[in-house]
Amino acid sequence: VIDIRTLYGKTGKFTYDPGFLATASCSSKITYIDGDAGVLLYRGYPIEQLATHCDFLEVCYLLLNGELPSPEEKKTFDWTVTRHTMVHEQLARLYQGFRRDSHPMAVMVGVVGALSAFYHDSLDINNPDHRQISAFRLIAKLPTIVAMAYKYNMGQPFMYPKNSLGYTDNFMRMMFGVPAEEYEVNPVLSRALDRILILHADHEQNASTSTVRLAGSSGANPFACIASGIACLWGPAHGGANEAALQMLMDIQKDGGLEKVGEFIKKAKDKNSGVKLMGFGHRVYKNYDPRAKLMQETTREVLAAVGAENDPLLKLAMALEKIALEDEYFVSRKLYPNVDFYSGIVQRALGIPVSMFTCIFSMARTVGWIAQWNEMISDPEQKIGRPRQLYQGATKRDVVPIAKRG
Ligand code: ACO
Repeated sequence: VIDIRTLYGKTGKFTYDPGFLATASCSSKITYIDGDAGVLLYRGYPIEQLATHCDFLEVCYLLLNGELPSPEEKKTFDWTVTRHTMVHEQLARLYQGFRRDSHPMAVMVGVVGALSAFYHDSLDINNPDHRQISAFRLIAKLPTIVAMAYKYNMGQPFMYPKNSLGYTDNFMRMMFGVPAEEYEVNPVLSRALDRILILHADHEQNASTSTVRLAGSSGANPFACIASGIACLWGPAHGGANEAALQMLMDIQKDGGLEKVGEFIKKAKDKNSGVKLMGFGHRVYKNYDPRAKLMQETTREVLAAVGAENDPLLKLAMALEKIALEDEYFVSRKLYPNVDFYSGIVQRALGIPVSMFTCIFSMARTVGWIAQWNEMISDPEQKIGRPRQLYQGATKRDVVPIAKRG
């Protein structure tokens, strides 16, 4: 806590906490993390149980409404999401404005932000029904938007949603199907992807969720707020870590594979090398990230389903993990694998290209963002987010006209 003395002579106190290491920005009933014990609960339910017994839309219902749905409620929820999967044709045309080789996350920021232009005039964020329909629209349209970003990048025609399919099957068809052929969804792969979505659905006040809350605290359009979350998620220290982690594994593999693991770990410990063990470490988890354990299981299932049990990248990842977990540098700093350590390997095995990994993450996290945004707007104590600063610049001084400046 620091005394502030502003230029105007007023005094007061505030907390100087760069990176918000010890500052709670809100109260929330959505997600609980015990970072020391490696526990993650959505609305009180352990992530392991949700990943085993529920599908992604069931988890969406839980995050938005606070309770798991009854069979009847689930049916209505699924039906309502399905009704909103199409995007406006004008939005589909927006893709043409991007270079084909744009990073799909750049496209996502633009296209999701543009949804705000379609749903603004009719939207009153203080009306709970309007907030609810915004949530349905976002959850339903994100898979369509992500798949379109992929198809645009590939130069292939867009696949429109097929609403007789479930959420994840529909997404896989829009990603991997082509109009000329029937697309058969592999149920093992679809279940694995659904599980990946569950594991990424929410994670309390991480950087992108805090960004969504901060943007939303001014009363901004929710679609624009979600676009700001997507922008934040893109960074390699956050959602972009899955891309960076797989790239790291591929680089080590190219460089010699297993025999180079020790050398790489040495580099990752050297602060001057600019290298980190990507997919390791977490601001909150000072223990094994429970999602990483589930992700490792899912990775094995998928690799077996696609006949790639001996995937060299999995072997490499496990070797890195083993050495790091026994190394004093990582042990003393409590650096463990996070969700991104294995998620790249599994997504690659699912046929998802590396540049799309963070888009998949944003598709999953959209429900968390919108649940958190909704909670914030409904909170009577909600105020515009406005952090303070520790000013260290010049004190008051007079402007010398440019002609007199030497
Ligand atoms: N490899 C090597 N050293 C590391 C790593 C790593 N992956 N992560 C942290 N460290 C070191 C830091 O250099 C620091 O060392 P020091 O105390 O000697 O200075 C110490 O461990 C603490 O790390 P901080 O960066 O201070 O921890 P912070 O909580 O600020 O950062 C973060 C957490 C950003 C996740 C960090 O661990 C990291 O960069 N990891 C790699 C990227 C990654 O996997 N991100 C995904 C996070 S999960 C998610 O967003 C879904």
